[in-house]
Formats: sequence, structure tokens, C-alpha cells
Amino acid sequence: MSSNKKSAAISKTEYSLRRTRLMDELAPGSLAIVSSAGEQPRSRDTFFPFRQDSDFLYLTGFDEPEALLVLVPGRAQGETLLFCRECDAEKEMWDGPRLGPERAVQRFGLSDAFPIGDLDDILPGLLDGRERIYFPMGRYAHLDRRIRCYLQNISEAPGSNGAPEVVDLDYQLRELRLFKSSNELGLMTRAADISAAAHCRAMARCQPGLYEYQLEAALLHTFVDAGARETAYPTIVGSGRNALVMHYCSNKAQMNDGDLVLVDAGCEYRGYVADITRTYPVNGRFSGAQKALYEIVLAAQLAAVERVRVGNHWDDPHTASVEVIAQGLVDLGLLNGDVQDLIESGAYQRFYMHRVGHWLGMDVHDVGDYRVHGAWRQLEPGMVMTVEPGIYIPADDERIAGEFRGMGIRIEDDVALTGEGVEILSAAAPKSVEDIEYAMRHGRDLLTR
Ligand code: GLY
Ligand code: MN
Ligand code: MN
Repeated sequence: MSSNKKSAAISKTEYSLRRTRLMDELAPGSLAIVSSAGEQPRSRDTFFPFRQDSDFLYLTGFDEPEALLVLVPGRAQGETLLFCRECDAEKEMWDGPRLGPERAVQRFGLSDAFPIGDLDDILPGLLDGRERIYFPMGRYAHLDRRIRCYLQNISEAPGSNGAPEVVDLDYQLRELRLFKSSNELGLMTRAADISAAAHCRAMARCQPGLYEYQLEAALLHTFVDAGARETAYPTIVGSGRNALVMHYCSNKAQMNDGDLVLVDAGCEYRGYVADITRTYPVNGRFSGAQKALYEIVLAAQLAAVERVRVGNHWDDPHTASVEVIAQGLVDLGLLNGDVQDLIESGAYQRFYMHRVGHWLGMDVHDVGDYRVHGAWRQLEPGMVMTVEPGIYIPADDERIAGEFRGMGIRIEDDVALTGEGVEILSAAAPKSVEDIEYAMRHGRDLLTR
């Protein structure tokens, strides 16, 4: 495993600080509502594993459904109220323990907590008389209906001054979540370490004749064994031309000798995720054409990572990757013409049709604006992004030399901006041709624990 073996956790103080910071951004006389996620049915009376709403988790650390956080900015630190499920011995016997309102106050350092069943009795009174409420309208339909009904009652009450204005809470939360604390970076480092180890395991296991889902199994084994029970997103194992399908995740094909396989996989660890892609030959040895194309993507990726620096703009790494890829495609004879013209006309997008990356954090495509006042955002310490250029050669384009057709290559790392420079959280996953071929021959266990 990489040398950076921080074991981080988010403390009660950090959660409380997040709520205070958020309330500092809210208008006087306002109130904010943040909801937990709901359980999602999978089949009749069974459910998908519960995944908490990232905003709610960010502000509370509370991992139960049927809960609502209410923030009332005001004097001193403001009030933080939680509505949650009551303890219920019968239900807990089947579904596991519930924290309950009394213990929640203590555990999370809240002003007060109430049973979720009392929402109709308490929340309308809190809303009445507010000038503004912050609420993520459109995210949870059942809650939308309820809040709308409360507001309608307020505006129709005798002598009413009208209902509060409803605004989205998104902007303030996006800005807070974009900048990671050292504890958050510690958790992301762990997620990336586990994910890099999983990629190594998959490389060592890979051979012609295996099915794509068997590589997926190798990745999942490492995730779960290391305590990361969930993936950050559906794992992509695309061999041959399946690599050309951006969101491929059926992972059902048998892998052929002579093909490449693109593996895009990351785990979620204590609410924070990794997102890593590696592409390698199914048989462990790059062919000449595979290596030629791979080296272009690798050079583009390294050039883009070089441009991830505090003070640069969000678009700088993308521009760098486009320049290297366009030049490389011309050198290989896959594109013809002047490189600058091919960039300006967007002709290169036939082979590189996505952007170089995205913010990373609690969500794989994490929150945060990419532009500020219409201009690309400047990179600042605490931001974490992916850098993932790729080249995808159509399988059926007769104008392209046969040896390149149907190849899809992407290389993706997770890069944290620190004050000084950058930390590549996913650096332990082999990336050069030599390191990949070595790892495929001599698989090694990166995680000691
Ligand atoms: N795995 C999703 C992405 O790379 O954006
Ligand atoms: Mn990504
Ligand atoms: Mn990815």
C-alpha cells in the first residue's frame, strides 16, 4: 500500500463546524431543511443497500433513513434540530438498531431532536414567520409534497403575511463540500489505496478466457475485504470494443487474447470515493499498436496532471490533454491536418469525446461549480479532481488502419490539490507499460491491512 496510511474519521466537532459554516452563509430570518435519503426497493419487499444522501451525511454523519435536519441560523451558533425514527424494539429486532432522538442529540451535538412522526406538529410552526427557507425542491417527492402543503396552509391562514420564499440550498453546500479537510483527504486516500490495490489484484488475475465479471469479482473482493462495502459507481470492465461504450457495466463478455480491457472501478470508504481507470492487454503484453496508442493517452494524462496546480484554471488540464492527443493522433496517421486546426474545429472529438475530469468527493461526480461568473474556475488547495483522458477508436471505420480499430483506452487518477502541489491519491495503481506488464506477471498484494 502507499506510504500515506492515514486512518481518518470525521469528528463530532467537524460535523458541528460544517453546520455552523453553512448557517453563516444563510440569510437572517431563514431556515434550512436537509433530508436523509429514503430506502430504495429492489425486489418486492427487499431493498438496495441503504446509501445516505451526501449532503445529509456531510452535515450529520447520521446513516439512517427517515430523518430530517433543520438548521435555524440565529444568535450564537444557531439551532440544529433533527427529526429521526424513534427506537422500536419490535422493528429493531428485524432491521437493526435505531439511534433514536434522545441519543442523537448527544451523539451529534445537536440543539434538539424529535421523532420523525411529530414532523407535522412541529415543522409548520418553525416555518411560519420565516422570510426564506432553503430546501432542495425536486430531490425527494414525498417531502416536496409535505413542504408545499405546510407552506400553503401558512399562506392561507387568516392574517397571513404570505409563505416564506423557497430557495435551493445547493449553492452554499456545493461550495463547502468542494474544499476537503485533512480528515476528508485522509478518507479519500484510504478509498484510493483500497481501489489501487483492487486494480493490482485484477491485473494479476487477468488472462484470456476469463469473463469480464471475473475481473469485477477480483476488484470487489479487495474492496469488501478492506472494509469498503460499496463501489463508488457501477464497475466498468470493458474488453475489446466494449471499452468504447462509456457507461458499459454489463461486464458479461469473455475476454479475448489480443484485446485490451478497460477497467474503471473505485470503492466508497466511509462516505468518500475513489475513481480509477486502468487499461491493459488481456494477455499481459501490449502489442505494438496497443502500446503506440497507450503511450499517447499516458503522455496526455501526465501533461494534464502537470497542469493541475493551484492558480491554474479548471480548463488548463483539459487543454493540455487535447493538445497531446491531437498531436499523437496525427503522428499515428489517425487524423490528418494541422494540429491547431484539428483542435479548433473539434475534429479530435471523434476519438476523445469527453472532458478530462470532474470533482471527486462524497459523490463520484462531486458537487462544485466549474465556472465562476462565466469564466473557468481557478484551482485552489483542498479541491480533488480526476484526470482521465482517453482515446476511443471506432470499430467499423474503414478509413482507420485495422490494427487500431475498436480500441478504447482511458487512464484515470485522483488528484488532490494541496497547498504546495498535488498528491496523486491513486498513484499506487500501475500506469506505465512496464509497470503494468510487471504487475500482470508478478501480482503483488498492495494492502497489508
Ligand atoms: N467512473 C465514472 C467516471 O469516470 O466519471
Ligand atoms: Mn471519473
Ligand atoms: Mn472512472
